[in-house]
Amino acid sequence: MMTIVREATSTDLLSIVSIYNEGIEDRIATLETETKDLPYMQEWFDKHKNRYKVLVAEYEGNIIGWSSLNQYNNRCAYAGVADLSVYVARTFRGKGIGNMLLTAIEKCAKENHFHKIVLFTFPFNQLGQSLYQKKGYLEVGVFKNQGILDGKYVDVMAMEKLLK
Ligand SMILES: CC(C)(COP(=O)(O)OP(=O)(O)OC[C@H]1O[C@@H](n2cnc3c(N)ncnc32)[C@H](O)[C@@H]1OP(=O)(O)O)[C@@H](O)C(=O)NCCC(=O)NCCS
Repeated sequence: MMTIVREATSTDLLSIVSIYNEGIEDRIATLETETKDLPYMQEWFDKHKNRYKVLVAEYEGNIIGWSSLNQYNNRCAYAGVADLSVYVARTFRGKGIGNMLLTAIEKCAKENHFHKIVLFTFPFNQLGQSLYQKKGYLEVGVFKNQGILDGKYVDVMAMEKLLK
């Protein structure tokens, strides 16, 4: 059976939150340290209206990853810039799902008149780094000691990709 990528619906939110929580628990993806629940994810989903798409990857009826275009900044000067999230279920990482989700979300971004995607990642996130470099994301720079994760400062790398 093939993996398909499609727009998310609210019935996907339980899977989305559980995949997000794996990313939170693994301490490689986000500065968030507290796992999230369904109401949190519903509120997040409700903010992803119109141009701010959420996509899921589905394999044999199960959601195995998701990606989203998030608002980068609410000033209208930045309306063409989207912030990216991408999360793949632990057991499906390193199998090309992130690649599929990024290809699909970039298409969505272009269709919805974004000219650029930005993302913030940890320099030590190896799978993320391999994927972003392969997809043509360029390093903007590294914020030193930018966030606190489990009581320690961590660096955060900003990356960007111009879509046209
Ligand atoms: C980061 C993430 C989204 C990448 O998605 P993925 O499905 O794992 O990535 P892909 O398999 O599409 O691509 C990863 C690339 O890294 C390579 N790779 C595989 N294992 C690797 C490893 N141990 N170290 C480094 N690179 C590796 C893969 O070969 C692939 O490159 P290739 O297609 O040229 O072979 C996913 O791993 C994930 O969800 N991680 C946890 C959450 C997270 O970090 N999200 C990003 C927040 S910024």
